[in-house]
Amino acid sequence: MSLVSVAQATDLLDQGEVVALPTETVYGLAGKINDESALKKIFSTKARPFFDPLIVHVKNLEQAKDYAHWDKFSLKLAERFWPGPLTLVLPKKNNVSDFITHGGPTVALRQPHHPLFLQILNKLDSPLAAPSANKFGQTSPTSALHVEEEFNSLVSVVDGGECSAGIESTVVEYIQNENKLRILRPGVISPTEILSELKKWDKKIQVEVVRAENSPGNLKNHYQPQVPFFLLYGFHSSSIPPNLIDQMSQTAGNPIKLWTLDLSPEIAARNLYKNLREFSRNQQPIYLVVQKNWGNDLWESLLDRLNKAAHFIVTANAESWKIESK
Ligand code: TXA
Ligand code: MG
Repeated sequence: MSLVSVAQATDLLDQGEVVALPTETVYGLAGKINDESALKKIFSTKARPFFDPLIVHVKNLEQAKDYAHWDKFSLKLAERFWPGPLTLVLPKKNNVSDFITHGGPTVALRQPHHPLFLQILNKLDSPLAAPSANKFGQTSPTSALHVEEEFNSLVSVVDGGECSAGIESTVVEYIQNENKLRILRPGVISPTEILSELKKWDKKIQVEVVRAENSPGNLKNHYQPQVPFFLLYGFHSSSIPPNLIDQMSQTAGNPIKLWTLDLSPEIAARNLYKNLREFSRNQQPIYLVVQKNWGNDLWESLLDRLNKAAHFIVTANAESWKIESK
């Protein structure tokens, strides 16, 4: 593995290279936003299409103000949740490259919480664009080892341990003329937490979770493991019909195994991508049973990831079931 120190990473980034860095959510593949060749390297390394815009990581709120036009509510959210796993989409200023935004009028900004990432940002003359450090569409990495699995030794990595949150930041955009905050990607910070902060400043403001197709780069298939993954709705883990298990195993080409998540959503999130990578490594096809109480908050974000990561959705009918390939 090509592990590098904070000082080495800073030098490499300064020279226009890309380096994988730890954040509190997932590892990011970072490059300086004022260096177009670094931005191109991010896309080519990940094999990422240009239509998927990048998040710009800033050292603080002051720096973020150089790149976007801020409204009052986005500012309140940044003051409350930064540094941390909240990404704010704002009207961009002219100094933001079209490579970052795919020529769009807005830019996504966040101040990450990881101390090593912040140390590096504080030494550089530019913020860092950093998508998750995985090949496009694959499972996001939550450790330096995962980054190595993705890119072998082609990418230098700063090892900052396992990511504490384990899934990506919440992406939000305030829509002025509707007085509404849209959640474009559910993530670590829940709609309830966001709404309770905003209500302090405006009792009438609304928070709306929008569906994937309205957010650029939000795809139906994402995070998928290298082994068949079945997601089951309407079943009890303890009483899965044996015929269904046989049918899933046959489809998978190998005996299938039940995957259960921790009862604590925080722990489940921390282990989510790690578990998916372990199943891929062990060639172990899996099924997971969605629980009735998973509609809210962090569970909702986990369900978003599970639905995208699954290859098959299985739903229970009165007497039988339906398996749909995604
Ligand atoms: O937690 C995270 O956000 C991680 C760490 C590394 O910071 N980063 C991350 O980046 O998840 P990425 O590239 O995998 O996902 C960024 C998503 C895009 O897919 C897109 O949906 C959204 O952020 N995004 C970026 N710019 C946007 C914009 N201008 N408007 C709407 N959505 C945007
Ligand atoms: Mg990603």
